[in-house]
Amino acid sequence: LRESTPVRYDENRQCWDVFLYEDVDAILRNHDLFSSERKRTVEHDDILTMDPPRHNHMRNLVSKVFSPKAMQNQETKIRELANDLLSQVLDQGHMNMIHDLAAPLPVIIIAEMLGVPKEDRLIFKEWSDTVVKGVSGDSQEEYEAVAAEHKRVNQELTQYFLSMMAKRRQEPQADLITSLLHAEIDGEKLTDKEIVDFCILLLVAGNETTTNLITHGIRVLTEQPELQSTLKQDPALIPSFVEETLRYYSPVLGQARIAKQDAEIRGQQIRQGDTVTVWLAAANRDPRKFAKPDRFKVDRSPNPHLSFGKGIHFCLGAPLARLEARIAFETILGRMANLCLKEGTNLVINPAPFLYGVHEYPI
Ligand code: HEM
Repeated sequence: LRESTPVRYDENRQCWDVFLYEDVDAILRNHDLFSSERKRTVEHDDILTMDPPRHNHMRNLVSKVFSPKAMQNQETKIRELANDLLSQVLDQGHMNMIHDLAAPLPVIIIAEMLGVPKEDRLIFKEWSDTVVKGVSGDSQEEYEAVAAEHKRVNQELTQYFLSMMAKRRQEPQADLITSLLHAEIDGEKLTDKEIVDFCILLLVAGNETTTNLITHGIRVLTEQPELQSTLKQDPALIPSFVEETLRYYSPVLGQARIAKQDAEIRGQQIRQGDTVTVWLAAANRDPRKFAKPDRFKVDRSPNPHLSFGKGIHFCLGAPLARLEARIAFETILGRMANLCLKEGTNLVINPAPFLYGVHEYPI
């Protein structure tokens, strides 16, 4: 597709597809022409689907609370949790990578950061799984069923966060919900709805993506087992292993934008109001940008992959996702040897349309 139709219109989905790195990068940077204010299944008003000037205001407020430094403070907690999760399965000699480690790790960390009590962690996992569940086919019935489920979960989450906010107003704690209640710029604070929508977005944007990143890394280590000893001998390579995993198996396949004016890309006429999907995963394997793109090069440098997006919407949780993945790989490699995929396993790709992950990864 990169070669034959780098920019094409898909009649079924009624949207444009863009596959080349140069074009994807340019569209993501050009937020004046390509808007993020797109429709979603649930009436949501979060930072991801805002344009400037509202986006700047919101981003300034939440980045204060969600700073890379605040996330660095999580390192000890993440390491303890990764070790705890592994200890529960290590003796049995086999594990289900997603169920036993890659899924619970990001959910528990984000829930703790928000201030969710331990006993509610499991409900959180269920909620966030439902919210990201996509529609796999074209059937209107399926679409409506998924939309109805989203709506229910959304209402439950909204109630949950509103009642947590009421509690934190009475008794502030050292958690994200309390910081969001107090965050202020030029005397302006976030509204209750903005806080709720932001909390829900953290679950939606941060959980399945990070689960998939961790699982993809283990997948690479089992597909190319010689990398296990390379990383054990030289753990300083793990951060670049994380980056190459992000490039090679991009957890977010693509993003949608809406053209605010008519535009032309590679001779194709895009009309105002058209939806344009930029395919991050295709850009990440573009040979014009990456030498031997289909080869996993553990020390690839530079590695300007687009897996966390580009421009004003660049992933706010990137430092956290990188930290969680690095610690997960350090912990696994430090305590386990000769990882291999369980014999006879059929890899099943999840049906979520824009997220890339496998259904199970037993090792
Ligand atoms: C935005 C990917 C983890 C929170 C984005 C975007 C991408 C992305 C591609 C840009 C979307 C766009 O341009 O429309 C990923 C990947 C992750 C990950 C691949 C894991 C490997 C996380 C985590 C969190 C998070 C752990 C928080 C807990 C956000 C937020 C935004 C965002 C709040 C919106 C930023 C804005 O609109 O200004 N992410 N993400 N993400 N991500 Fe992530």
